[in-house]
Amino acid sequence: MLNQTVVNLLYLLSSVLFIYGLKGLSHPRTAVRGNVTGAVGMLIAILATLMLGGVRWEIIIAGMIVGSVIGAVWSFKVPMTAMPELVAMFNGFGGIASVLVAGAAFVMTEAADIDMQLTVSTAASGLIGGVTFTGSVVAFFKLQNVKWIPDGGFFRGQQVLSAVLLILCVLLGTVLVLSPASVWAYWLIVPVSFVLGVTLVSPIGGADMPVVIALLNSYSGLAACATGFVLMNSVLIVAGSLVGASGVILTNIMCKAMNRSVWNVVFGTLGPTGSTPSADDVYAGKVKATSPEEVAMLFDGARRVVIAPGYGMAAAQCQHVVRDLANLLEARGIDVEYAIHPVAGRMPGHMNVLLAEADIPYDKLKEMDEINPTFSQTDVAIVIGANDVVNPVARTDPNSPIAGMPILDVDKARTVVVIKRSLSPGFAGIPNPLFAADNTLMLFGDGKKAVLETIAAIKAG
Ligand code: TAP
Repeated sequence: MLNQTVVNLLYLLSSVLFIYGLKGLSHPRTAVRGNVTGAVGMLIAILATLMLGGVRWEIIIAGMIVGSVIGAVWSFKVPMTAMPELVAMFNGFGGIASVLVAGAAFVMTEAADIDMQLTVSTAASGLIGGVTFTGSVVAFFKLQNVKWIPDGGFFRGQQVLSAVLLILCVLLGTVLVLSPASVWAYWLIVPVSFVLGVTLVSPIGGADMPVVIALLNSYSGLAACATGFVLMNSVLIVAGSLVGASGVILTNIMCKAMNRSVWNVVFGTLGPTGSTPSADDVYAGKVKATSPEEVAMLFDGARRVVIAPGYGMAAAQCQHVVRDLANLLEARGIDVEYAIHPVAGRMPGHMNVLLAEADIPYDKLKEMDEINPTFSQTDVAIVIGANDVVNPVARTDPNSPIAGMPILDVDKARTVVVIKRSLSPGFAGIPNPLFAADNTLMLFGDGKKAVLETIAAIKAG
């Protein structure tokens, strides 16, 4: 068994590895290494904790087996498009684990050893962990589009109830701090915070769930951090703080990319306003459908092509055929790059992950700010399953729900080819004048089928 000093040194090493791991995750090229670095840090932290002694190995091993089997099955079964749901559940499990561990540690502490730090952090674990758990479960079901949680919540004024429940939790926490023998106060904080998680998250539109999940991820970190103070475990405090801080940063990045404030996401709604033009006004008589053969001809003489992927590429799972198309064009001397919008798809880095899965070199993926000035020198922009992130209304209509959202300037390319199945709106539910623009051709069809047919047409031509 290791003594506390050695364990603390190992915790320090783990913390350093976590920080290096996070740094690695900030770039696709170093992301895999970053992931492994963080995992090694966690392994060291777990082994050090177990080597402190006082654990029942059979329970630990049983827990590891059950957890690993569930994790492995999920990771193979869950499709890429359902990743936000999976992350939501992970956050929820983190939250409930904090509630249970903090509660158990508090109950087991001798009355003489209970101080203010312990009671404050236990109450914080119960409150934040409880909200994270049920909030994440609601987020999971909202992403699954269940009908029994209506957008807008269960009843009007639900946010008032949330405020009352929050105050109640704070009062119960105060009781626990002032009178540490009142363990019942903790066990009341937990169910109240469970209800609070439901009342807080259920009114938020399903469309905003990815941002909410980033926020709940941050909460799960804060709950773990509070539990770290309960257990006086430094590595849990550090890891929890890192998760808490990175979740907040991610939430901010997503909100900025959507030109909305966190406040607006949590308390506002996303949807067409009364003054948004109808689809008929935007499209009637102006949309030009094209064929794979006509698209193939566009590439004759083209020097630069930019591919702008969106959620539809994930839905069609066509990233591999998109790569084949790009390879074919490159073999004909055409310069091909990919335009990556920060909120394309349904989760942060969604497009990067899909394109990396198809072995597309990282240096071909260009961030919005880098690629936008190049569209005016682009012969063909191919939009694959993207809609909102290429909707010029964001620039022009202050009443639009996406007003002010920075977009990919594909409309500035000489010709735009949009691949999607219909004129259906995207996530924001509004028409897109790009589809009716003079320089746009619509290639209607499932993403994979349309790209495969285009490849065949290029080869045939
Ligand atoms: P969307 O605007 O949601 O549009 C996706 C389009 O894909 C749809 O219009 C759909 O049209 C098409 N599509 C669906 N299945 C397809 C298939 N099998 N083949 C071809 N096309 C298909 O997507 P986007 O442009 O990527 O924008 C993302 C939106 O999500 C933004 O509004 C963003 O704010 C929001 N959002 C993103 C995130 C993150 S972190 N990524 C977080 C929160 C919110 P058809 O039905 O006609 O095919």
